[in-house]
Amino acid sequence: MSMQEKLEQLNALRAKVQAGGGEKRIEKQHAAGKKTARERIDYLFDSGTFREIDVFAGDPDKNPGEGVITGYGMVEGRKVFIYAQDFTVTGGSLGKIHAQKICKVLDLAMRTGAPVIGLNDSGGARIQEGVDALNGYGEIFFRNTVASGVIPQLSVIMGPCAGGAVYSPALMDFIFMVKETSQMFITGPQVITAVTGEKVSMEQLGGAMTHNQTSGVSHFAADNEEHCLDLVKKLLGFLPSSNLEKSPVCEPKEPAVGREELINIVPAQPILPYDVKKVIAAVIDSGEFLEVLPYYAKNAVIGFARIDGQPVGIIANQPDHLAGCLDINASDKISRFIRFCDAFNIPLVTFMDVPGFLPGTAQEFGGIIRHGAKMLYAYSEATVPKITIILRKAYGGAYLAMCSSSLRADMVYAWPTAEIAVMGPEGAVNIINRNEIANAENQAQERARLVQEYRDKFANPYIASSRGFVDDVIDPRDTRNKIIDALKILDTKEEERPYKKHGNLPV
Ligand code: HXC
Repeated sequence: MSMQEKLEQLNALRAKVQAGGGEKRIEKQHAAGKKTARERIDYLFDSGTFREIDVFAGDPDKNPGEGVITGYGMVEGRKVFIYAQDFTVTGGSLGKIHAQKICKVLDLAMRTGAPVIGLNDSGGARIQEGVDALNGYGEIFFRNTVASGVIPQLSVIMGPCAGGAVYSPALMDFIFMVKETSQMFITGPQVITAVTGEKVSMEQLGGAMTHNQTSGVSHFAADNEEHCLDLVKKLLGFLPSSNLEKSPVCEPKEPAVGREELINIVPAQPILPYDVKKVIAAVIDSGEFLEVLPYYAKNAVIGFARIDGQPVGIIANQPDHLAGCLDINASDKISRFIRFCDAFNIPLVTFMDVPGFLPGTAQEFGGIIRHGAKMLYAYSEATVPKITIILRKAYGGAYLAMCSSSLRADMVYAWPTAEIAVMGPEGAVNIINRNEIANAENQAQERARLVQEYRDKFANPYIASSRGFVDDVIDPRDTRNKIIDALKILDTKEEERPYKKHGNLPV
């Protein structure tokens, strides 16, 4: 063959692979409201920057691309590796070579220190390949684990993701799902009906809202695929490329809510709720909050933001839900976020207004002791800059758990409305003044008097300040400036811990 003929052969083979599973299957994909793997890649990457690798892996005639497209390119100017499962080729099912292609991009991403994105759309293990397919999953799980805390790993579910296949996304840092067109489950509806008799639809069982609202498995729910990939880009903007770098700093922007508002948001009455997101909006750069897990454990708010252009991880109690109490789900939600931010050098800003851990048998039987301990562990373990603002309630173990000075917050600021004590006034007087209340002529009046006395004496920020547990009591309107100053001072923070293989997080 002449060079010209060889080039024609190459181009024909490439075109065959690029055609994926063919027109009919592509039409079926579109009819289901889904893009093809190549269309998703086109949408995600900066125009003309995507470079495909392993184009001719496997059998281009029978299984073009082996059901997965892999490569690298630029997303908003930054290098990113990708694998995108192609449902039009044997249902995106994972066989030996499909897995090898994914492993190669994971290895390349690790060697070069760049984020990896997995676009999942697959029928799971390729049944015909049996144990080779299972081994392929195992190889991916191993790499996901080794890469954890080294490079950001983002998993985007854009179709089915069933059986053991769900564990690769679960081992990665963030899961994105698309409403109505993506599902994750270990065993499907038919198996569930056969084994337990339960009847459940695919969407109810493992759809985007199930995992964003009920299970907490998925961190983001998108309205459609483009929205989903936009969220991926937005998240990437907050992240460094690896644990050896810091996140890119942007042009500072003024907050969307004026600083004067900060004295009106938190009600003077300690039992009244409010939306802590209004406080966050008055502190962070305008339009720069990407809330993580917004539908799950709403008593806690977590997310990425920028303050004076510097990316930070925000953690806050939400008095609008369960009075901002910490429970099992909130503890899990917060702990994992702390560990992500710490692994990737993202400073933590914590807004505290917490009456305590949620009481009740459901919480105790569910292991709130074990789950709450994760927060203590995660904050204590974190060596990134840690700044805590106590807005109002800071009671008991929950005060410690929300990044108190004892867990090595670098800077703790309290608003004048802060109440820092072992427990709230009502609970406290019932214990320490039980006899006085019982013997009083007018018990309600006596209790109210003792509650007020306790509040005046203990429920304020000044006792904690006098011990050095609070660095300053501040005018709420100065909150943003105080955080900006602290972030600048702490920019060079270094903290060594004793060598260990790894700690034993109370999972
Ligand atoms: C081989 C598969 C496949 C699979 C789908 N296909 N799943 N081929 N292995 N696992 C093929 C189909 O034969 C079909 O080929 C094409 O992909 C599209 O599939 P359809 O069924 O036509 O699509 P749809 O109706 O949209 O249904 C999608 C589906 C269904 C719900 C995913 O295909 C399905 O239930 N597949 C099996 C899912 C499963 O049980 N997988 C194993 C999970 S356990 P043609 O040629 O007709 O286009 C697992 C273990 C992992 O993954 C363990 C890791 C530790």
